[in-house]
Amino acid sequence: MDLKQHLLAFRDKLRGEETVDQSSTMAEQLVDSANPAQPIMPEHSAVTKAENIQRNGAIAEGGEIVEPMSPRKRVKPLNEENEPPTPSKRQKGVAPIKAEYLLHPSGSQSGEARRGAEHDDDAAEAADDRYSKGDSRDNRQNRKGNKKDKNKKQKGQNTSRTFGSSHDKLQLCNSRASSNEFSPKDCPFGDRCRLAHDLRKYLQDGRREDLATFGGQCPVYEARGFCNLGWKCRFHSSHSEERESEDGRKELVLLEDEARKAEFMKTCGPEGEAGVVNVVSKEEKINLSKRKTQTPRSDAYIKWTNTNLDVDRDRFDNRPKKDNSSIIKEEDGESSTKQESGELGPKEEEDATMQQEDADNRAQYVEAPFRPSEKRRIYYGPETPVLAPLTTQGNLPFRRLCVELGAQVTWSEMAMGLPLLQGERGEWALMKAHESEIQAPKFLQKNTVVQGYDNAKDLKFGAQVAANKPWLATKVVEVLTALCPNLRAIDLNCGCPINLVCEQGSGSALLDNPSKLENTLRGMNYVSNETPITVKIRMGTKDNDPKAHKLIKRLVLGGYEAVESGRGTAGVAAITLHGRSKQQRYTRSADWSYIAECSALINRLKREKSEQSDTVKETDPRDLAPNGHVYFVGNGDCYSHVDYYSHLENAKVDSVMVARGALIKPWIFEEIEAGQYLDKSASERLSYVEKFAKYGLQTWGSDEMGIGTTRRFLLEWLSFAYRYVPVGLLEHLPPNIQDRPPAFKGRDDLETLLASGNYKDWIKISEMFLGPAHPNFKFEPKHKSNSYEIEAEG
Ligand SMILES: Cc1cc2nc3c(=O)[nH]c(=O)nc-3n(C[C@H](O)[C@H](O)[C@H](O)COP(=O)(O)O)c2cc1C
Ligand SMILES: [Zn+2]
Ligand SMILES: [Zn+2]
Repeated sequence: MDLKQHLLAFRDKLRGEETVDQSSTMAEQLVDSANPAQPIMPEHSAVTKAENIQRNGAIAEGGEIVEPMSPRKRVKPLNEENEPPTPSKRQKGVAPIKAEYLLHPSGSQSGEARRGAEHDDDAAEAADDRYSKGDSRDNRQNRKGNKKDKNKKQKGQNTSRTFGSSHDKLQLCNSRASSNEFSPKDCPFGDRCRLAHDLRKYLQDGRREDLATFGGQCPVYEARGFCNLGWKCRFHSSHSEERESEDGRKELVLLEDEARKAEFMKTCGPEGEAGVVNVVSKEEKINLSKRKTQTPRSDAYIKWTNTNLDVDRDRFDNRPKKDNSSIIKEEDGESSTKQESGELGPKEEEDATMQQEDADNRAQYVEAPFRPSEKRRIYYGPETPVLAPLTTQGNLPFRRLCVELGAQVTWSEMAMGLPLLQGERGEWALMKAHESEIQAPKFLQKNTVVQGYDNAKDLKFGAQVAANKPWLATKVVEVLTALCPNLRAIDLNCGCPINLVCEQGSGSALLDNPSKLENTLRGMNYVSNETPITVKIRMGTKDNDPKAHKLIKRLVLGGYEAVESGRGTAGVAAITLHGRSKQQRYTRSADWSYIAECSALINRLKREKSEQSDTVKETDPRDLAPNGHVYFVGNGDCYSHVDYYSHLENAKVDSVMVARGALIKPWIFEEIEAGQYLDKSASERLSYVEKFAKYGLQTWGSDEMGIGTTRRFLLEWLSFAYRYVPVGLLEHLPPNIQDRPPAFKGRDDLETLLASGNYKDWIKISEMFLGPAHPNFKFEPKHKSNSYEIEAEG
């Protein structure tokens, strides 16, 4: 069934409830539905449904989708006079919407702009449910060790988020769930089992009816040729029937598509998943939780670094540091002409003596127990736009959609080191990737030599982790590389601003501890075998005190202690810089001129390094990043192909990472590829929602619980997607991610609905594909201000 048919079916299903006055405007509807932030309890689904009909009123009798009526006819302007639209001047911070789409055409645009949005993204980034309530994907409730900080709030963040639970009224025992009626498995709990065993009773009274969306066809069955959710599946009638047996009895049986199942089983992993990689078995997780998993490389590495600590202390803590590079001087505006002239002054003589001492001292170091392995080469270029790591939002179904739309590099949501090491199911679930993510990224530089790069061996998906200590980071990398064979790279998150993460010394806190950061990355590089190590940083922790350039220097050349002791560089293959400080809110733009400075610095350092390698202590090539080459990726506010290419051009970054831009319009990757704006119609945008819903059901299951999880993550995405202002409505281009639109209406009702900041509308959108929300389903937006926006818009 295509989208249009689907909408029609939806309309038909709700027919008879079409009681709402069609003459009321979208603006009025939004006012009507304005409500302070209450978790929505869709018991009022009759109203919801009726509103939905009204909103989808663009579907005419007889099944045709009619051209959108001129919104002018439908929407009464709220001011008295019908003033002719006048082109507006571009105002900073305000999306320049054409007058004919404004709900208050003569009002001050800035006054009308959605207020309260300032803290949105800080709140969204920081509102990681793992640090407050459970995450329904993986039962991460009551995570150990977080009690103390339970009540801590990050500004604007909706901390006490609950998502209700979506369960069947009667819970069917697993011994019945995937068996035919007359051949149930034995229930291991016998009479003590409290779950339902009477299949017919369960189907009759114990669960909600099947969904009619997706043509009533089960998306899981469609992909696998069988549905592992069996009778619990909300599409079960598409893969079951009542069969009369020879003795005349009627049996409920589950169907399978033999050919498709055989195809699926070929690629099916130990945990029964296909099309998904990096699935770690239960046994491995149990071994981790029981500390049975060995990490010999990390142990040897940590032992080695500890042994050398005393030598380090003797050498570096007890004497003044000397500068081993001219670069700092250049940065500080000092001239390095003397050094260049080759004259020896008293300082140089002193240096020569110290060099002799250094050589003696170096001899005191214990040799490394092993060298880092050579790394698989990666590549970043103009043709590889990067989807950022995104906690909660960057889940597998969303990444799958982005890859389909052209994302060439994807990252997992940030996984925390300790729970990974302890075998926590939820954390390991973050490592799963869709098969499309393990395809090679695009590579167009066939004529230029990118030394050692084998595109066929490269893949799109990498894992991002947070860790606060070298021992933890190395162990995590060692188990990750052993258990997840499909990783492009492992990235250390040094940009995370979440208080709880930073208080433990991870995330942004590492920016203030460069030596620990370097040691951590070096350790990761030592133990990762062929998997490259990368790092994501911010400008610094504090505003007006950027530190990234110093860090970059340390990472490319190696810190003072490391070079002096012959340990070499940390060996990172790429650095991504988000052009904001930890302290900086999203309200201020990312600093691309600073990113450009850092990019220039990297290039200088690379040159410097090749010169240095002639004179200074030779670094073992295995300690260097692949080929000694460190890729540099810029990040912040990229919202169109125009932004993308201008950053490549002006900041000279290798590629650009896109975060919120992709959440707001995932087809940004398509725009980048096409090099032009794509004015997606509302129904095209809705088809992406449909895809997400389908991918969600295939990932989390098509039973009541899976649907609840899919709905929750769809809503999380819609909490960004509604911000999209169609380019066709804009007076001036390029669109700016920082701009907020004044209240506006779309070119049709669906476009207006998709722009609604009211999460009740998001639930309605979800219902088009996932059916009416479960009575116990709740959703509270991460962005607290969404409730405010509704009032402001009203
Ligand atoms: C909802 C949300 C979740 C995020 N989660 C992560 C994360 O897990 N790891 C990370 O390194 N950055 C995370 N970030 C930061 C983004 O990766 C990116 O650096 C930042 O949003 C700036 O890029 P943008 O201006 O394109 O949004 C998150 C940001 C948002 C808005
Ligand atoms: Zn039972
Ligand atoms: Zn099914």
